[in-house]
Amino acid sequence: MANETNYDTLFGRMAAEQGLCTNDELRRSLKELEVRRQDDPISLRGLMIGLGFVTATQAERLKNTIKESKRAAHQIPGYQVLGKLGAGAMAVVYKAKQLSLNRVVAIKVLPKRFSENPEYVERFYKEGQAAGKLNHNNIVQAVDVGEAGGYHYFVMEYVEGKTLYDDIVAGKIVSEQEALDIIIQMAHALRHAHSVGLIHRDVKPKNIMINKEGVVKLADMGLARETTDIEAAKTEKGKAYGTPYYIAPEQIRGEIDIDERADIYGLGATFYHLVTGRVPFMADDPVEVMKRHLRDELVPPDHINTSLSAGVSEVIEVMMAKKKEDRYSSAEELLVDLEAVREGQPPIRAHKRFDVSVLEQLEEGAVLEGGEPQEVAQVVTRYRTYLLMLGAVSAILVLIVVLLLLR
Ligand SMILES: Nc1ncnc2c1ncn2[C@@H]1O[C@H](COP(=O)(O)OP(=O)(O)OP(=O)(O)O)[C@@H](O)[C@H]1O
Ligand SMILES: [Mg+2]
Repeated sequence: MANETNYDTLFGRMAAEQGLCTNDELRRSLKELEVRRQDDPISLRGLMIGLGFVTATQAERLKNTIKESKRAAHQIPGYQVLGKLGAGAMAVVYKAKQLSLNRVVAIKVLPKRFSENPEYVERFYKEGQAAGKLNHNNIVQAVDVGEAGGYHYFVMEYVEGKTLYDDIVAGKIVSEQEALDIIIQMAHALRHAHSVGLIHRDVKPKNIMINKEGVVKLADMGLARETTDIEAAKTEKGKAYGTPYYIAPEQIRGEIDIDERADIYGLGATFYHLVTGRVPFMADDPVEVMKRHLRDELVPPDHINTSLSAGVSEVIEVMMAKKKEDRYSSAEELLVDLEAVREGQPPIRAHKRFDVSVLEQLEEGAVLEGGEPQEVAQVVTRYRTYLLMLGAVSAILVLIVVLLLLR
């Protein structure tokens, strides 16, 4: 739950997120801690060093990071820190009171290295200002940005609830209708953000929060991301970078003109995880996961969960097309299909996109050798028929015009 969390939880989460230990080692340590606590009070940190899951130096560094970010949070003017809410790979999130308005907010304190990068700081303020202009029930509202004690921070609406990731790790089974409800709310959030030119770039279950009323909210909107994080992942093998299970191929390639279709891919990968219980591409090493996004064919979601409707499966496949041109072109277009599928109708846009992409591949001669000749032939026949009909109608019209002129 995104309620207040203790130091041990924070330490463990950051150690796992930074790739210092595996998730399995963390689970084992937490279990052991439960047992030991009865008669021998010990910290998770001490236990993990003892078990050899983290080194004393790594643990010390992590402890200092947490301590420093806490000190920075306490220095932010106008806010009173109430407790810790959680941590990701690099930042700690605090619960605080905004004194001027006497309301509870969440504050994310970014790592110091961010402040040392002027290009990042510039984007941080620019994106923060753009997010400040957004106002949508499905987006965690940006409240403030600033710097205190050498640390940059991002203040946002406090969401009392949990993240979608919390549900997934708890093994919650999400029905197709529930998943559709969540994804539709997220598509509305993206449509709103994209309408002002804001791209999220990191849509994933950890950034999707569900409040007590069941309203789904996209978090970290407007929080500028490091442009070099792919490089960091490649060189540091999972350190300071969550495993890229939901990232779009063009982001992996480091393209600079990332647009709304990258968010549609991230949402598609999240949808996939929700309805199949698995991430789309799995590997132990983040670099291998990225390679799979680039080249491995997606196992259709309805092959894993056979109770899924064909419509939902098709929508996910289009959302996760490798080439962005083959995806939905906007959240608006995606919403048309999501709502159709929710009503039990076929996803028209997905069908159309499939037809167009098959024709394109045909032109490139790609599908002719392998692929599914029967399906391809059907599509081609359908298009030929359309063209013939169009030709016939045009010819008749020309004939009528000529006859009228001759009279
Ligand atoms: N606005 C918020 N209100 C309440 N809790 C929040 C809010 N934002 C974040 N949290 C909590 O803090 C945790 C850490 O968030 P953070 O964005 O730092 O990391 P993450 O998204 O989990 O992972 P990553 O480091 O990969 O981005 C979240 O998992 C959530 O529990
Ligand atoms: Mg987050």
